[in-house]
Amino acid sequence: MINITRINHCAIASRTKMEEMKYFYEDLLGVTTVKRDIPEKLDKLIPGFWMQFANGQIHVIGCDDSGAERKVMAELAGKKGDPMGPHTAFYVEDIEATQKHLDDNNLEYFRMEGFIFTSDPTGNTVEFQQDPDWPSAAYEFQQDPDWPSPK
Ligand SMILES: [Fe+2]
Repeated sequence: MINITRINHCAIASRTKMEEMKYFYEDLLGVTTVKRDIPEKLDKLIPGFWMQFANGQIHVIGCDDSGAERKVMAELAGKKGDPMGPHTAFYVEDIEATQKHLDDNNLEYFRMEGFIFTSDPTGNTVEFQQDPDWPSAAYEFQQDPDWPSPK
């Protein structure tokens, strides 16, 4: 069974006008931005910025489908759910139980480390992440050296 513990982030796709987007949110609206917790190789390839709020983040992702980031994430080609497009990310109590629940319900998904991506019935990408603050989490982070710590 899936137990969603909280919202981690929502992501806005901004395939153009990244500088204007950053100016609008950061300078005009005064939103705080934070260092992106993604591998350095992706940080260099994928334009964007993360906005931090008390109750979660909004990610602005600049991704051209033909761009270099697709070469880095070639394993995602043809998979359900697009982490580079607009999506909603939920923390879950147990990522392994979440995967089993998707399997049991014959829902397509793909998994990268502690992240699972699927789609809702209208095609909106949904992301699940192991909640690192959940005390009963069965999932042990198999830390990819390219990824920063989940905490
Ligand atoms: Fe995401």
